[in-house]
Amino acid sequence: MILVTGGAGYIGSHAVLELLLAGHEVLVLDNLCNSSPAALQRVEQLAGRAPHFVRGDVRNRALLKALFAAYPVSAVLHFAGLKAVGESVREPLRYYETNVSGSIALCQAMAEAGIFKLVFSSSATVYGESPVMPITEERPTGVPTNPYGQSKLMAENVLKGLADSDPRWSIGLLRYFNPIGAHESGLIGEDPNGTPNNLLPYMLQVAVGRRAQLNIYGNDYPTPDGTGVRDYIHVVDLAQGHLKALERLEQVAGVSVWNLGTGRGYSVRQMLSAFEEVIGRPLPHVYKPRRPGDIAQCWSDPSKAREELGWEAQRGLPTMLRDAWRWQSRNPRGYAQDKATVAGATQTALAS
Ligand code: NAD
Ligand code: UD1
Repeated sequence: MILVTGGAGYIGSHAVLELLLAGHEVLVLDNLCNSSPAALQRVEQLAGRAPHFVRGDVRNRALLKALFAAYPVSAVLHFAGLKAVGESVREPLRYYETNVSGSIALCQAMAEAGIFKLVFSSSATVYGESPVMPITEERPTGVPTNPYGQSKLMAENVLKGLADSDPRWSIGLLRYFNPIGAHESGLIGEDPNGTPNNLLPYMLQVAVGRRAQLNIYGNDYPTPDGTGVRDYIHVVDLAQGHLKALERLEQVAGVSVWNLGTGRGYSVRQMLSAFEEVIGRPLPHVYKPRRPGDIAQCWSDPSKAREELGWEAQRGLPTMLRDAWRWQSRNPRGYAQDKATVAGATQTALAS
């Protein structure tokens, strides 16, 4: 059985679906601070069977201990964390406590239970502003400009030290580039709380009329059209990368770092044009000054994951945007419309 922390969230719910489809038993631990149990109900609908679900906090050591005693967990995918960059600047302690202390609590409980396989959700943000593109895993980590990025780098360092200290550990640090898109069914997708921080969720909300216009932050970057360039990756490709990493951790010990990206960068302007093509109309937008902390460009060299995991992103930008639009247009308010039905969602009762 695989424990998926944060399994009700955007990336976690897609990973839970892929695990179930591949025949794994899955246990989700999520405190639902940024997600809805409706996501798991829809995963069940798609997979034809449900993951076990425990509502609880990854920082809760007693709960973790009880979980590992009650379920035959063999490996953990650790998605649970906070991810809003602006919020992390205002509430750094909450970010360090969840993203760093939460990871520590999880590893302590795993070690006590004799579980040593862990896949951690890291981010390309740990590279900081790389002068070299594409970015290989050999690039030194940089200086993240905000507590969110710092917390990811700190957690990576904690996990490296842990694996150095005890050869039983087998840990995969997956550095995601920019996850977008949704499952092709349109049933699960990204449902951000409040104002979206990231480009595609913002564009989607403009397209369904929840926001007036897209703000394009900066058109004076040293990039071909002056707007920021990123490596967008389909969330289903990303989720499948986790299954490949799990398989690989059966064979290797210590810490392994893998970039999960496509190896291709698109500018904000290119994203906007491609999205307008998908929705068949222009999207209102204005140019604004650069967003503090943003970098000009960032894209991956994903060849290490291809060689070591046998994983490669399969879905191109038009598919990412079509799938994202299917999700958003069918669920303009995300999972909010399910609120009435989720009150009685199935939940395993486990003392916390
Ligand atoms: P998300 O917010 O949709 O999912 C995170 C999940 O963790 C949510 O369901 C939330 O309720 C849960 N959670 C948060 N704190 C918790 C706690 N203390 N105990 C238990 N559950 C808790 O975010 P996501 O986009 O799915 O991201 C998943 C992971 O990937 C995060 O660690 C994030 O930092 C990392 N990541 C995300 C991106 C991205 O662009 N989405 C990029 C790089 C890395
Ligand atoms: C942001 C975070 C990063 C995090 C990543 C994934 C910042 C400074 N960085 O990265 O730490 O790991 O999300 O969650 O927040 N853009 C617009 N208008 C918008 C939103 C974005 O023009 O409304 C532009 C940005 O300037 C950037 C590109 O779109 O050039 C992508 O932005 P975004 O989706 O926020 O991702 P990152 O900046 O890569």
